[in-house]
Amino acid sequence: MPRDNLSHVAILEQAPAKINLALAVVGQRADGYHLLDSLVTFTAFGDRIGLTPAAEDRFTLSGRFAGALSADGDNLVTRARDGLRTALADSGQAAPPVHIHLEKNLPIASGIGGGSADAAATLRGLLSLWQAGLPKADLDALALGLGADVPMCLAGRPLIARGVGDDITPVAMPALAMVLANPLVGVSTPAVFKALASKHNPPLALAVEPGEPADWIAAIGALRNDLEPPARRLCPEISLIAQNLAATEARVVRMSGSGATCFALYHAHDAAEAAAARLSERHPHWFFTATSTLGASDDAH
Ligand code: C5P
Repeated sequence: MPRDNLSHVAILEQAPAKINLALAVVGQRADGYHLLDSLVTFTAFGDRIGLTPAAEDRFTLSGRFAGALSADGDNLVTRARDGLRTALADSGQAAPPVHIHLEKNLPIASGIGGGSADAAATLRGLLSLWQAGLPKADLDALALGLGADVPMCLAGRPLIARGVGDDITPVAMPALAMVLANPLVGVSTPAVFKALASKHNPPLALAVEPGEPADWIAAIGALRNDLEPPARRLCPEISLIAQNLAATEARVVRMSGSGATCFALYHAHDAAEAAAARLSERHPHWFFTATSTLGASDDAH
C-alpha cells in the first residue's frame, strides 16, 4: 500500500469538522430528541475520504484517531454507503463496489461531528463516483436517518440549524481564525442531554447578521451553548481546557456540541497559530490545532 493512502484515489472528499459556535436547547420532541437553535460553521481541518472503484467493497482506515474505530464494526461511513446503495436501487441506478479509505484526523465522540462529517462526505463522494443522483428530499431524509448532524454536514457551510438540527438556514459568515482543543476524553451525547437542567431555554438572540469577522466574533461571544454546563459537570477536563484557552489572546472560548471539544476565536490567524503551538507544548497529552473556519463563499466539496 502506498505511504499516503489517499494519493491514488479516484475521488477525494474533505470531511470538515462541524463547530456549534452557539447552541440553544429550546424543547424536546415526544421521541426524546431535542429541539435546537444552533449557529454552525465548518473548519478547514477535518477528516478526508478517498473513493476508488474496486472488485468488492472495502473499508480501510488511517490517521491519528483511526485506532478508536474498527474497519469491520458498525461505522457511519459504511452505513452511508449501504443506505445510499439501497436508495439508488429503488430508482434503478448502479452502485458498484468501492474501496473507501477514511483518514481519521478528528477526535472521536468529541462534539465536532466527525462521524457525521464522514457520512456526509461519503454520500457526496459516492454520488459523484457513481454519477448518480437522488431528489434533494430523499438525500436529506437518508442523511437525517444516519444522524441528526448529517444534513448540516452535507450543507458544509455557515448556517443556522433548528428542529433536531435538520432545518437549515444559510448565513453569510466570513472565515474566522480558530483553535480547537480536546482533552481526548470522549463524552456521551445522550448523557449530556440527559443531564440538562432545563430542556426549554430561549432561542439564540442573533437578530441581525454581523458583517466583518470582528463583529461576528463579538456577536458569537454574546451567545451560549446550553450543553456546556452539564458537559462540564460530566467531564471536568472541559473546564481545564477552557481555562487554558482563555489565558491566550482568544476573544471567545466555548464548547462545541455536547463536548468535549472547545474552540477559541481569534482576531488574527497568527495569534491562533501561536496559541495552539504554545498550548501543545505545555499540554502534550491534549489535542490542539489552529485552523480557519470555512467562509460562506468557500466550497468544502
Ligand atoms: O442523531 P445522532 O445519532 O447523532 O444523535 C445521538 C444522540 O444525541 C441521540 O440518540 C440523542 O440522545 C441525542 N440527540 C438529541 N437531540 C438532537 C440530536 C441528538 O437528543 N437534536
